[in-house]
Amino acid sequence: MNPHLRDVAIPNDWDRRGLPGWSYHSAALLELEKEHVFRNHWQIAGHVCDIPNAGDYLTMDVIGERALIVRGKDGVVRGFNNMCRHRGSRVVADSQGNCKNALVCPFHGWVYNLDGTLRGAARPRSFPDLDKTEFGLMPLDLEVWMGFIFIRFRNGGPQPSVAELLKPIEPEFAHYKAADMVPSWGIWTQKTPVNWKSVRDVDNEGYHVAMAHPALQDLYGATYFDEPFVNGVSRSFATYNPHAGRRWSVKNYVKIAPEPTHLPDHLRKAWVYYGIFPNAVLSVMPESVQFYQEFPLSTGETLLRGAIYRYRDESREQAAARYLSFRIDRDTMSEDVQLSVWSNESMLSEAFEGFYLSDLEYGVRTHHDHLRQQIPVLGLETAPEEKDMWNLNDALRSRG
Ligand code: FES
Ligand SMILES: [Fe+2]
Repeated sequence: MNPHLRDVAIPNDWDRRGLPGWSYHSAALLELEKEHVFRNHWQIAGHVCDIPNAGDYLTMDVIGERALIVRGKDGVVRGFNNMCRHRGSRVVADSQGNCKNALVCPFHGWVYNLDGTLRGAARPRSFPDLDKTEFGLMPLDLEVWMGFIFIRFRNGGPQPSVAELLKPIEPEFAHYKAADMVPSWGIWTQKTPVNWKSVRDVDNEGYHVAMAHPALQDLYGATYFDEPFVNGVSRSFATYNPHAGRRWSVKNYVKIAPEPTHLPDHLRKAWVYYGIFPNAVLSVMPESVQFYQEFPLSTGETLLRGAIYRYRDESREQAAARYLSFRIDRDTMSEDVQLSVWSNESMLSEAFEGFYLSDLEYGVRTHHDHLRQQIPVLGLETAPEEKDMWNLNDALRSRG
């Protein structure tokens, strides 16, 4: 069976340059990225199993926005701005928890129902004209896909529904029954000292695996390949090498992992990564499904966030395999952090002349192309003045 989902030919004369170096440390560009890429594109907030019961909530503070996802008494998962309509306080302070029957703002005590409607202000007689129906929590676009909760800070946006966007990967991803999974170790976050695009650039190609990721190379290096971004989705696929196991973790992983009979043959020894523009990956292994994503904190600092989910009724062998794959993944991630630091810091050097990409890094190019489409100023090799950035970009956008 052809392991490719979509055979995308790499053009003969493609432009092998990456984004211009200035775009990795421009504060004005970062504002454009928040505006045209982060606020109006789908973002993974978590999974329905992170909030299994009525009143369970999770929050996500990113790019200056605050999302609150809460499960109502009717079982429905809804998304809101975590922002009280009185004076803007957070309605809940923690990243995860349960709020029983209502959301009570910690500032002055306005009370919201779990469906976001305002139940009442504290000392209501001090608001003689308050129309409660106008002061509910502000809703966010929210869509659940295979158990994963996607939100969008700005209503509407350039992407279609999540179901439409992820249709190309749906038949394959569906085998993992991710909607029935449960959390492994909860949602994690971590900071890394580089521009968010440098994190994504490293993740968008497997050319570096042979050199930089000894465990992955041992596990699946011979078979790994990338399919580039097309309409916002990329895919990378690898199956275990026949003689995997020179390294301790890989040897034991391959040995302990039980035959995953719930999966079709071509996925039984596969790790698959689905990139979702602009900043997220869903990845599957026989034992688990995970998401990870990155959000800019500043031009030179990025928040990494993610979670691993497991089968509800997993066996001890599956659990052990899941732990070992997590270890392999964790080592890989710290290797990637180092690579992204070295690449990112070069962009402050006068000597930096841009990327010169291999055919094996075509995924990086296609991700950059998606960014250029939203933010045409990225096509300029020389940095515009910071103060002109916004207007210049608007002008280029309207020219189409
Ligand atoms: S800000 Fe929430 S009650 Fe005042
Ligand atoms: Fe990597």
